[in-house]
Amino acid sequence: MEDLQQLETEITTAITACDTLSGLEELRVSEVGKKGRVSLMMRELGKMTPEEKKTFGPKLNGLKTVIIDSIADRKGALELAELNHRLQSERIDITLPTPAENQGSIHPITQVIDEVAEIFTEIGFSIAEGPEIEEDFYNFTALNIPAEHPARQMHDTFYLPENSDGNRKVLRTHTSPVQIRTMLSGPPPYRIIAPGRTYRCDSDATHTPMFHQVEALVIDKNIHMGHLKWCIEEFCRKFFELDNVKIRFRPSYFPFTEPSAEVDIGCSFKNGEIRIGEGDDWLEIMGCGMVNPRVLENVNLDPNEYQGFAFGLGLDRISMLKWGIPDLRDFFAADLRWLKHYGFAALDIPSLSTQNTNIGGGK
Ligand code: PHE
Repeated sequence: MEDLQQLETEITTAITACDTLSGLEELRVSEVGKKGRVSLMMRELGKMTPEEKKTFGPKLNGLKTVIIDSIADRKGALELAELNHRLQSERIDITLPTPAENQGSIHPITQVIDEVAEIFTEIGFSIAEGPEIEEDFYNFTALNIPAEHPARQMHDTFYLPENSDGNRKVLRTHTSPVQIRTMLSGPPPYRIIAPGRTYRCDSDATHTPMFHQVEALVIDKNIHMGHLKWCIEEFCRKFFELDNVKIRFRPSYFPFTEPSAEVDIGCSFKNGEIRIGEGDDWLEIMGCGMVNPRVLENVNLDPNEYQGFAFGLGLDRISMLKWGIPDLRDFFAADLRWLKHYGFAALDIPSLSTQNTNIGGGK
């Protein structure tokens, strides 16, 4: 009895004094492991008289529990100390700059989307989104492009396999379906831009099967073409950072706008390089127009009460123009050397817009 008390003190002192996990494990094995001292003592119980068993049994069990518990406690403390030590020694200061060779960069398209969003949100637009796998209804029908309409062929559409209901979804061929989604989502007025990926089956130096557009839609009472013109001019002035941009509206045709126009920007081609805002050449940058009354009817708006304009702009094309990038296919080739050259520093913030103006007027 005396012995057991003494033994407990001896072992718990050793446990408390032990300062490595491996040392602790050795202690566990040598005391309460299969052939450990206390385990062997428990085996001796078998040889005792029932009376002795009655006194020694519970005491030995108690001793074993105390040992196991204090080993667990000590183990917890040692593990915590080890973790703290590791955290301290592996500490990383995330506010330090990344070494140059590991630094990623912002893709020109991401940068351009940020800049476009900056310009339009400052004049009162919000940002809308829609799915890239789109229903035929939003991509075509509701935009006044019914089945068999020749305009469908203009789009080189990627179709998905037929659904059980016989319909085929498409990879959206433009961002215009977001117009429909926006107008069906709640009551007017609307002032949105919708940047995103679009798809057409086409590939050369100025076309890739996946490309980017930004759509703009403004619907309110008393919106007219003057608003459209101002908006586009203002955008070009800010985006290309030029005080004097020459812009030309050429009559055109889109089923979802009436009248429709294509917008050209003044430029020059010198030594194989394009310069925006100079010279006597023109480059097409977007399609636009007043939203066709039929489209408004398709989304249950009364064209006598509400009007508006829309335009769609190729983001890849305006990036090429702004930064003089010659081949569109390189944008998506994931070539790190190209990204290093044309990419933007991660902390670059677009700060193109300066003044606050209100478009449309409405009420
Ligand atoms: N969706 C047209 C295209 O992709 C562009 C456009 C948008 C034209 C909005 C007019 C109005 O070519």
